[in-house]
Amino acid sequence: MNIREDFLPLSKPAIGPEEIGAVTRCLLSGWITTGPVCQAFEKALCELTAASNAVSFTSGTAAMHLLLKALGIGPGDEVITPSLTFASTINMIALSGARPVFVDIDYETLNMNPALLGPLITDRTKAIVPVHFAGAPADMETILEIARHRAIQVIEDAAHAIGTYYRGVHAGGFGCPAVFSFHPIKNITSGEGGMITLYAAELEKQLRLLRFHGIERDAWKRYGKGGNPDYDIQHPGFKYNLPDVLAAIGLAQMSKWQALNMRRAELARKYLDGLKDVAGIELPVSPAYPHIHSWHLFVVKVTALRRARFMEQLSEYNIGYGLHFPVTHRLRFVRERFGDISPLLPETERAANRILSLPLYPGMDDADVVYVCDAIKEILRKG
Ligand SMILES: Cc1ncc(COP(=O)(O)O)c(C=O)c1O
Repeated sequence: MNIREDFLPLSKPAIGPEEIGAVTRCLLSGWITTGPVCQAFEKALCELTAASNAVSFTSGTAAMHLLLKALGIGPGDEVITPSLTFASTINMIALSGARPVFVDIDYETLNMNPALLGPLITDRTKAIVPVHFAGAPADMETILEIARHRAIQVIEDAAHAIGTYYRGVHAGGFGCPAVFSFHPIKNITSGEGGMITLYAAELEKQLRLLRFHGIERDAWKRYGKGGNPDYDIQHPGFKYNLPDVLAAIGLAQMSKWQALNMRRAELARKYLDGLKDVAGIELPVSPAYPHIHSWHLFVVKVTALRRARFMEQLSEYNIGYGLHFPVTHRLRFVRERFGDISPLLPETERAANRILSLPLYPGMDDADVVYVCDAIKEILRKG
């Protein structure tokens, strides 16, 4: 086959006239940091998820940092989460002073296996953080049931989950806090950004205080007509507020997430079709329970040859790829601080050296998928 001349990236944000127009309007409005556009963005996520409250942040990581803090999770506590997640979550747990406790995954779906949670729960367990991996929902009913009996907080890592539904409920719609990310690779982006959807006014208040120096009123209200620019601070806070100029991108994206996800799903179907029965590569397996996949990522498992060799070959065909994720229990600081627990995670270990994300984004052409499938077949034939 002929090698394409241009590089096919792993991902590319779907930015069009709507986003450009929204940013321009914000820039010309005279108010570009946190204000009314953020508020509208928060409302839009409440509408999508059916959560009652939402607070925006500069990133999903910042959101998780403050959520753990606001929930009082710290030294002496344990937080259960899969190792197959972005390092950000483990970093935030470790920085809070708590201990990450890893639950193994289902090798097929790459999601947390809730059947394994029981023995991991101790008196110190404060939270369980399921990840809706690649956009396939974790088994929320089972996880919530286990947590409810023991009064453990569930926090959804919904970074991949705009458009993810579990048994008809959108991620963030389960009555517990959920953390979303709007990093440029995500299904919708605000350049960088994050959001927590939640249900408790007191928690929302804590998060808003922690988000902005511990100051009670938003700057746009303090500086508005008749506003009081004075403030007092009861507890010191951080500076993690999302500016309106970025929220404008996110809000514009929110109005078209369905079309964007529909295209992702179409491309995923083309991959599944184009690569079916190809020996040496395992395709994504969707969970058995009713759900809608957001197809944030298309993660295959390479079994026929070393992944490093496969990646080299993809590069030669001018194809981008990603690794979601280098498993976190193998990270050096995790091993040094919390010990080597790889024997307790056989399925994570089995997947760890095989997983690879193929290009998937709404702007891809059908022909791009055909090209990647043909290239993979050729690579695997050559060995
Ligand atoms: C599973 C997961 N959790 C958390 C995050 C953190 O989000 P952010 O990059 O917005 O800080 C990401 C993405 O980057 C992610 O993929």
